[in-house]
Amino acid sequence: MDFALTAEHELIREMAYKFGQQEVLPGLAERDREAKSDRSMLDKMAEKGILGISIPEKYSGSGTDYIALGIACEELERADTSARVVMSVHSGLHSMTILQWGTEEQRQRWLPPLAKGDRVGGFGLTEPNAGSDAINLRTRARRDGDSYILNGEKTWISLADYADQFLVVARLEEEGDKLRHVAFIVDRKTPGFHSRPIHGKLGVRAGNTGQIFFENMRIDKADMLGEEGDGFKVAMSALDHGRYTVASGAVGIITACLDACGKYCHERKVGGEEIGRKQLVQQMVANMVAGRDIGRLLYYQVGWMKNNGLRHTREVSLAKWQNCANAFKAANDAVEIHGAYGYSDEFPVERYFRNSRGAMIYEGTHEIHTVVQAEYELGYRS
Ligand code: CAA
Repeated sequence: MDFALTAEHELIREMAYKFGQQEVLPGLAERDREAKSDRSMLDKMAEKGILGISIPEKYSGSGTDYIALGIACEELERADTSARVVMSVHSGLHSMTILQWGTEEQRQRWLPPLAKGDRVGGFGLTEPNAGSDAINLRTRARRDGDSYILNGEKTWISLADYADQFLVVARLEEEGDKLRHVAFIVDRKTPGFHSRPIHGKLGVRAGNTGQIFFENMRIDKADMLGEEGDGFKVAMSALDHGRYTVASGAVGIITACLDACGKYCHERKVGGEEIGRKQLVQQMVANMVAGRDIGRLLYYQVGWMKNNGLRHTREVSLAKWQNCANAFKAANDAVEIHGAYGYSDEFPVERYFRNSRGAMIYEGTHEIHTVVQAEYELGYRS
């Protein structure tokens, strides 16, 4: 076992941290208040090579490993969840899934523009009536010669207005009661596509989220990932990648809480004494430290498994479940430590509180991961 990070990992940490400070934080409070996402952030991420992290060099990526991807997500989310969400969707759910499932021809076609940020990728699984129960989605693909006709809608889609292409999972329309799925890479320029933004979110207000609709869209067979019947497995393995980025990003929220509380504990005095001297405040800080350090160990382990090509569905579910719960707890405690100031947007902790809540819902709810862990342990799942 080797717990040491490489010089390359440290460089990525520094670069992603600086990117967060210099490119994400300026103007963020206003964007968050006004619920405005900034499309140019994607171009800036592309310029820095962030969108190509963990894509092999032969497909124009940085060739770095999966630990590097986790570290980048951690540091980006330390600035704001909206920046990490770009990585979850574009890199984790979309690019890494093409890398895993694509034929050599598909990888050559799709990965270089994704790695360079010339194209942005999205992910469409969730539907108005299929969230946790993803297998029972309603979007339909009907075979028609060498292509498929796609009809349906997806909701809660990050980057719905910005992505150039989406990994879309549909149910294959066929005779009888067979439940088989197909996964396609769908270009938004295909006739029959449209998107609509979702407004009024509690958190990640500086991020773009929406619905996407497919009306009699003709999709070429060459755009299918895997074979007919592989669609659900493609979706679940995409979630293995996405959950890794969410789990590592959650550690960034805890670090941000510690950054804010570390400062405030020294500044704020009660009866002439810094509040950092109060043991109940120390208890909350200590819990954050535990959440951050345990969280890193959890995601480093998953990153190591990914680097070694090992199936990690169970481990990534554990990391996502625990890290997101600990991030929400840390943000709640950070609000508590800041008192009334924590309840206003004068300090960033209220944003961490709102943002961290969402991660307990998307990419598998807190309850789904609880059940998944119990099922693995009890032998109902393997
Ligand atoms: N990799 C490869 N194959 C996998 C897999 C994986 N990670 N996970 C499951 N499979 C395979 C199984 O082996 C099984 O194959 P066989 O039929 O050949 O045995 C098949 O897929 C079905 O798997 P399950 O039996 O586990 O399916 P299930 O219906 O019991 O799954 C569930 C239940 C775990 C709750 C799953 O539905 C789930 O994870 N739901 C949550 C969905 C989710 O996370 N949605 C988030 C949407 S994306 C999002 O939020 C992102 C965003 O934009 C913000």
